Amino acid sequence: MEAVFGLLLMLLGVSHGVETYCDGRQDGAQCYGALGGAVVLQLMDDASEIPRYEWRKGASVILSGRKNNIVTNTIKIRSTFIPSNGTLKINNLSRTDSGEYTLRLFNLNGRETGERTLKLSVEAPVSSVQLVSECLSQGQIWVSCSFEAVDSPKYMWTLDGHTLTDTELLSGSNETNIITLKQHVSGRLVCSVRNHISSVSKELMISVCRDHSLLTCGLLSVAAVVSFVGIGVYFKWKKIKYEKAEESAAPRRTEKSEDSSVTELRSLSD
Ligand SMILES: *[C@@H]1O[C@H](CO)[C@@H](O)[C@H](O)[C@H]1NC(C)=O
Ligand SMILES: *[C@@H]1O[C@H](CO)[C@@H](O)[C@H](O)[C@H]1NC(C)=O
Repeated sequence: MEAVFGLLLMLLGVSHGVETYCDGRQDGAQCYGALGGAVVLQLMDDASEIPRYEWRKGASVILSGRKNNIVTNTIKIRSTFIPSNGTLKINNLSRTDSGEYTLRLFNLNGRETGERTLKLSVEAPVSSVQLVSECLSQGQIWVSCSFEAVDSPKYMWTLDGHTLTDTELLSGSNETNIITLKQHVSGRLVCSVRNHISSVSKELMISVCRDHSLLTCGLLSVAAVVSFVGIGVYFKWKKIKYEKAEESAAPRRTEKSEDSSVTELRSLSD
């Protein structure tokens, strides 16, 4: 739940550093912070009601106080503790901040009245996801979803808003970063990568790979048509040339026939 809430807070979007929130008032709380970002830890309700408190990491005291007075804060440079609502905000988180912390509460007599632990995990947020697809020989589509340094990444794929089904997947699954889609698959493919502190998605329009072979087919037919037309034009040209040659030969024959008809007429008149 904390993680989800943290994620929501993060999505509300600080562009510079990721800020997460975690309720550490329950013993054993698991909190997540973003590397270089900030975490707001709710350690208690109202410190002004607590005679003495101490927050340790292992043997070292990080924070201690008496009611509204902060006695120790060893990470003062990058943190703020607000006694009135018991929240500690730690900025510029590093991996060394990860670990188990223990809060101990004492009464006026110095007796311990309560103790609870909190586990903080500092993770690198997801950044620059890349989505690449490639058509395979049989028309299947190979898709890879990659990203830079991420701790405990979880993937999710959707196609036109629904999770990928076995009828669409040839290899890989909804939880792997490389998948192969079957031949007929097309649509808006989204790869989401998330961890406890951030989430990034990238989308890609997938078109049927057969389109490529169709295109090749189309180009081939165009080429065929062009060459047929070419052959046609050549023969037409040859024919015209032949006819022209015939035309130039034809008049003489006509003259001859005229002559012969004249002869015939003459012979008739004779
Ligand atoms: C605690 O108090 C501070 C200062 O008034 C405020 O900024 C912060 O939002 C409060 N946090 C919670 C969890 O109430
Ligand atoms: C954050 O912490 C790192 C070391 O962990 C330090 O080098 C850097 O200067 C700090 N940045 C800020 C803004 O305090």
